Amino acid sequence: MDIAFAAATTPTRGTWVVLAAGDGTLGPTGSELDRRSDGALRRAVADWGGKFKRGEAIDLRYPPGVELDRVLVLSLGKPEEASRYDLDTVGGALAVRLKGLRVREASVAVELVGGIKASAQELAISLATGACLRAYRFDKYRTAKDAEEDQGEEVAKLTLHLAEPATAEAAWPAAAAVIAGVSHGRDLVTEPANVLTPEAFAEACVELGSALDVEVEVLDHAALQRIGMNALLAVGQGSAHESRVATLRWSGGAPDEPPVALLGKGVCFDSGGISIKPAAGMEEMKWDMAGAAAVFGAMKALAGRKAKANVVGVLGLTENMPSGTAQRPGDVITAMAGVTIEVVNTDAEGRLLLADVLHYAKEHFKPKVMIDLATLTGAIVVALGHEQAGLFSPDDQLAERIRAAGAAVGERVWRMPLGDDYAKHIKSDIADIKNVGRERQAGATAGAVFLQRFAGDVPWAHIDMAGTAWSKEDRPLAPKGATGYGIRLLERLIAEHYET
Ligand code: BES
Ligand code: ZN
Ligand code: MN
Repeated sequence: MDIAFAAATTPTRGTWVVLAAGDGTLGPTGSELDRRSDGALRRAVADWGGKFKRGEAIDLRYPPGVELDRVLVLSLGKPEEASRYDLDTVGGALAVRLKGLRVREASVAVELVGGIKASAQELAISLATGACLRAYRFDKYRTAKDAEEDQGEEVAKLTLHLAEPATAEAAWPAAAAVIAGVSHGRDLVTEPANVLTPEAFAEACVELGSALDVEVEVLDHAALQRIGMNALLAVGQGSAHESRVATLRWSGGAPDEPPVALLGKGVCFDSGGISIKPAAGMEEMKWDMAGAAAVFGAMKALAGRKAKANVVGVLGLTENMPSGTAQRPGDVITAMAGVTIEVVNTDAEGRLLLADVLHYAKEHFKPKVMIDLATLTGAIVVALGHEQAGLFSPDDQLAERIRAAGAAVGERVWRMPLGDDYAKHIKSDIADIKNVGRERQAGATAGAVFLQRFAGDVPWAHIDMAGTAWSKEDRPLAPKGATGYGIRLLERLIAEHYET
């Protein structure tokens, strides 16, 4: 979507969007159009018949007394209660409505209505951001001409009019960089596993490195063997595709400042391996790399807006397949950290590869904090549904920072327990630990205490995003499909706490 900012002006033609409070209060442009059209806007709002809820828009076609094709009166709900995220969702709702009306271009009068707390510049950036995120689509594999008729066309251009367009214009590139990170992350999550193999994902990282100032290193099979990433390699040993680990480094902070490490589970397809999954719904396991895609997208966002922070992303990329070379239930492997693991269930593979990724990141980058993102367990979906991700951390300050960042961007987390009483669930009779806990008991925590063992003393948090990576229904800021969950959360977290 093309976004432009322009000076506030009197509407003369085309489609205009004016903002209103839920109680019908109009901004200056809306009031003026109402006057010129002999009260048409106020009558339409009064006529709405019900609450004029945030994000709803009343469509006036060819309003009398003005030369416009249409005026959309867009509700901010109770402006005094609207958070930045709420304002983003208004932009998202606007994109949906304009698409439904087949409007290709629209102008928005960005004005402060009611007791809104945001500045006009923030409001403009929010509306544009929400519209862009919600208008995302993935059309790469639609060759048929009727694709547009199937889905309709997204609005092509939004022009936001405000008193001081220059400030919004100056703030837009950073917001656009975050949107680009989210879109690219969603693309990767949506790609099928025959296209996005571990090698292809690593190649996408290399391409990111040549597009932006990100230092990329890819560890291939031989390199992974050399450094002893046996747990990660064990997951991939049944696949025809080799495993990879990709590291992405953005150095925008002070040269001697230890980095924030973001780690991602990148299982390009999770069949379960020899502990194979049921056929129904298995196609969904193409998005078992959404944690790695979130890290990728966050790195793209941070580098794109030149964040003043040192951040390293480490992506564990592999495929979990059954074959004659696959690992077996009961196998014992020695992780890079030297910890022995009994692989009771080959479908609990995410924690295996993350064990090595955590250890590698800790030793190689000496980070000040490590955050891993993973579609780790079905159990977290049972606990939290698709509304929030599970957050596990022994560090209260880090946990609170992540909670607040998630809430600010509508990517919420709910804190879940860790602790020794759960750590005993993963004791093995034959090795140091086993990769599953107790049948039907605290399954997401069993995964988390497993990971904790490999984080050592580094402040660490684990986000289990199995329920939030993909949505079967449209969301306020995303059409159904890949949500891009985690990208904006990580970007916000770093902006708030790790930038100088
Ligand atoms: N990738 C899955 C978890 C998952 C489930 C993600 C549903 C998204 C939606 C993970 O690798 C897995 O299979 N976990 C097992 C662990 C169990 C065997 C201990 C699970 O949750 O069933
Ligand atoms: Zn998995
Ligand atoms: Mn699995």
